[in-house]
Amino acid sequence: MSEIEALGARALGDIGAARSPEALEALRVALLGKSGEVTAQLKSLGALPPEARREAGAQINRVRDEIAAALAARREALDALALEARLAGERIDVTQPGRDPGRGGLHPVGRTMERIAEIFGRLGYTLADGPEIEDDWHNFEALNFPPHHPARAMHDTFYMADDGRADEGRADDGRAVPRLLRTHTSGVQVRYMAEHAPPLRMIALGKVYRSDSDQTHTPMFHQCEGLLVDEHASFADLKGTLAAFVRAFFERDFEMRFRPSYFPFTEPSAEVDIAWQQPDGSTRWLEVLGCGMVHPNVLRNVGIDPERHTGFAFGMGVERLAMLRYGVDDLRAFFDNDVRFLRQFV
Ligand code: FA5
Ligand code: MG
Repeated sequence: MSEIEALGARALGDIGAARSPEALEALRVALLGKSGEVTAQLKSLGALPPEARREAGAQINRVRDEIAAALAARREALDALALEARLAGERIDVTQPGRDPGRGGLHPVGRTMERIAEIFGRLGYTLADGPEIEDDWHNFEALNFPPHHPARAMHDTFYMADDGRADEGRADDGRAVPRLLRTHTSGVQVRYMAEHAPPLRMIALGKVYRSDSDQTHTPMFHQCEGLLVDEHASFADLKGTLAAFVRAFFERDFEMRFRPSYFPFTEPSAEVDIAWQQPDGSTRWLEVLGCGMVHPNVLRNVGIDPERHTGFAFGMGVERLAMLRYGVDDLRAFFDNDVRFLRQFV
């Protein structure tokens, strides 16, 4: 066997054994490439005497063609194998039962807020809104909080800079004031009254933040603010409105009590508690809201004449209402995001 025939036989064996397109390409370069073995053979033809050259040349060309054909055939075979493997891997068993993606649903707190908005919508209240990153003016000052009121203390309020120098907020007179995460939705009262003349009715629903955590408190919770300003609004109207709301919200009678309280922005003020049945059969009072007649100073701060207009306001704890409606005994469960808990409300 001549040298070129031996090369050809070895090459065909190697090509047949190649397992991947990359291995095949490496063989092609090693054999037919610019410095490949077959190419070297062709180059060496020049050194032969003319009569031997033709015979040897024909032989090398034949082997080269065989190699080229073997490479093409092997490539095709490898491509077919790859395709088969891919199809096998992608095969879909159409008889398999579908995977249940699970049906989503509203969070019980969101559901409660929708319910509250719907009830007050029927009572003629407009839905208003305010920023969660609030400033000291809207959250405290305009609401008649004295400078050293305990609610302003660092341990109750999350300020935007812990050095107390955050000064991007602006009071109505242009003074720089600290910015904070709103501790209640009452700041929306200030924003709304600054832009709307009485008579007015609005509610505002949203997140509020406090440094608080136990069975009935979380650091983030939701409130529903309510405000009505008119010429003859009275505490009796406030009581009647809240009683009507509680009846519509729970669709059954809940014992409810008004307890005298204090807020800087209302006078007189009250808190409303609802009788909360405990698993052991006893009753506990759960505070669900604060309320009162809008303080004259607040009306003055937003340019409303307190001699002519009076108003009432309330701030309800949305999670507290949800707890009572759904019989949940730990408020923190709403934010644990345990789907087994949440799925019960879907
Ligand atoms: C206020 O926030 C007043 N802005 C309410 C108000 C509005 C009074 C308008 C007068 C006029 P208070 O801090 O009590 O008040 O909170 C109101 C309600 O929010 C509470 O009754 C309670 O239901 C709920 N609440 C308070 N703190 C938490 C908490 N950490 N987690 C869950 N709910 C809370
Ligand atoms: Mg309270």
